[in-house]
Amino acid sequence: MTTPKQTPRQEERDVSRRRKFWALAAAGVLAMSSLAACGDDDDDGGGGGDSGGGDAPKVGVLLPDSQSSVRWETVDRPFLQKAFEAAGVDADIQNAEGDKSTQQQQAEQMITNGAKVLLLVNLDSGSGAAIAANAKSQDVKVIDYDRLTLDTDATDYYVSFDNEEVGRLQGQGLVDCIGNKQGARIAVLNGSPTDNNATLFKNGYDSVINPKFDSGEWVEVDDQSVPDWDNQQALTIFEQILQKADNKVDGVLAANDGLGNAAISALKQRKLPQIPVTGQDATLEGIQNIVNGDQCMTVYKAIEKEAQAAADLAIALANGEEPTADTTPIDNGTEEVPSILLEPVSVTKDNIGEYIGNPDFPTKEDICAGKLAQKCEELGL
Ligand code: BGC
Repeated sequence: MTTPKQTPRQEERDVSRRRKFWALAAAGVLAMSSLAACGDDDDDGGGGGDSGGGDAPKVGVLLPDSQSSVRWETVDRPFLQKAFEAAGVDADIQNAEGDKSTQQQQAEQMITNGAKVLLLVNLDSGSGAAIAANAKSQDVKVIDYDRLTLDTDATDYYVSFDNEEVGRLQGQGLVDCIGNKQGARIAVLNGSPTDNNATLFKNGYDSVINPKFDSGEWVEVDDQSVPDWDNQQALTIFEQILQKADNKVDGVLAANDGLGNAAISALKQRKLPQIPVTGQDATLEGIQNIVNGDQCMTVYKAIEKEAQAAADLAIALANGEEPTADTTPIDNGTEEVPSILLEPVSVTKDNIGEYIGNPDFPTKEDICAGKLAQKCEELGL
């Protein structure tokens, strides 16, 4: 078997695996010499198994799925992992793969295992609020990570981006890519109706594109939400949009890179020409679609900073300290949650180069691999 060339991120993961190996080896030696029971470690997806050793995970991280966006497993997990490891705090990171009752069970297991803080990416506000209420009743702190849980008095902090700004950047990106084409026929693919972020993104882009529809400069072909951000469903939905519109679509406001890619795939299947498509998350696929001319923009959110900010709060809370970060209050419908909101940026073919090299941005080797090498050169990457 040959070993393919590793990206820095893969190398980082390997380094962290190696570190963990040595840490476990050392722990093993200690356990043998002292005959003490040794606690389980964190991120192996096994969950639990702690036998009352001193290093039971103090923080539990509840990721939502791995299909609505690759970010959760490829960016959030390794950066959260790294932040906790650097602080010497054990964290148990689990992914519910889109299943609400699985997420509920994972949360309960983490609390049983001794977690003092949960970092929660909810699958909807109802199930998120139930997890938070259960945690609160057991004196466990809850940080809403990326997605705000609505209508609960049981979350302590919220860490995310300015999500209406994400939407405004998408709307403005589409405006810039469409240019002054009159009567442009636009389709809108919204995120999951149960994700508060999807509502905020929509508020943001609607504020930019609705005036265009109202003035008659643009025509709205369709506006549909994609349940659970499911990329497969997005493909079906967009195929139906094309079918109904007789293929006459001039631009797509897609709420993230996965949905954008679904629209691009449907266009390609019908051998239709490239049109402006938006996105979000600056995924490898999204950036490659931009380089290839299939997508006009994405929104880059510095997930490393988001992970670090959330981990810092969690570490302070887990140690029984009062976090010192500056927060702003955000209303979740029941109460004001102290929040940290970071700034998103718009990425087009003209400024990809500015972000290459950021640890949470796709690497040049990955972006420009294979048949995109020539296009990368043309863009000066
Ligand atoms: C996140 C996006 C992500 C989407 C689907 C949203 O809540 O903010 O970054 O693309 O969920 O997972």
